[in-house]
Amino acid sequence: GKVRAPTHIISTISDDRGDEPCYAGVPMSTIIQRGYGVGDVISLLWFKRSLPRYCTQFIEICVMLCADHGPCVSGAHNTIVTARAGKDLVSSLVSGLLTIGPRFGGAIDDAARYFKDACDRGLTPYEFVEGMKKKGIRVPGIGHRIKSRDNRDKRVELLQQYAHTHFPSVKYMGYAVQVEAYTLSKANNLVLNVDGAIGSLFLDLLAGSGMFSKQEIDEIVEIGYLNGLFVLARSIGLIGHTFDQKRLKQPLYRHPWEDVLYTK
Ligand code: ACO
Ligand code: LMR
Repeated sequence: GKVRAPTHIISTISDDRGDEPCYAGVPMSTIIQRGYGVGDVISLLWFKRSLPRYCTQFIEICVMLCADHGPCVSGAHNTIVTARAGKDLVSSLVSGLLTIGPRFGGAIDDAARYFKDACDRGLTPYEFVEGMKKKGIRVPGIGHRIKSRDNRDKRVELLQQYAHTHFPSVKYMGYAVQVEAYTLSKANNLVLNVDGAIGSLFLDLLAGSGMFSKQEIDEIVEIGYLNGLFVLARSIGLIGHTFDQKRLKQPLYRHPWEDVLYTK
């Protein structure tokens, strides 16, 4: 028989060898004919399956709502400074992306991990939050620099409204809201933030869609797919900030001395 040469790479999400590229077995022409959107493409390439329309629309809403949040946030600030240093698009983009992490935009996976674990174990919000405090860990998905009880994050409200209307269950989001009620009793800015909303709602999407086994959900949460949504979304804004600075022919940025506390 034929001898198969050993391969150095295994790939299971896409194939470009035929007449047309396929994403998770779905040919490009089908994607176009069926009017699929970017949410469907994300479903195919990240989750290796077609998800129901309410799920792909939710993914697209996450991408749209997280695309930008003004020039002052960590990511945009880095991108603006880099573009003003004369660097190219990719350098300016990645400079902003590199700020995404546990404090900024990259708390979605940990929010999903901690909310899932606490909710599945039946911990009360008090037990969960105080347990985290004892461990010295800030609750991922809770807290915001400028949002508060009296200045709620519209993005969170929009995501919650969508889920209430379209999701079969919002169990995990309900738990996150209970946690928020407890943290708000401690301080006004300890709101459920957009990372926490996406983290908890994605758990509801995974569990409620009937498209994933329990083992697959655990794997998605463990590997950490969900920060990818923020990375992807915010790239749109960071690219926009790069073009904006170039269009405005902004000079090299230097931070003003007056804004630095020089001290020993
Ligand atoms: N859980 C528990 N307590 C908290 C939390 C939290 N998530 N956030 C703040 N606190 C408490 C702490 O007691 C903190 O004191 P400490 O510094 O001794 O721990 C106190 O509030 C003061 O915090 P602030 O200075 O008001 O918070 P700050 O503005 O520095 O931080 C931040 C905002 C970074 C978002 C913070 O709330 C946090 O780390 N949250 C968790 C990570 C997270 O969800 N990040 C995503 C934010 S949304 C986004 O980036 C798109
Ligand atoms: C964002 O989406 O960038 C924010 O929620 C962070 C911020 O400080 O506004």
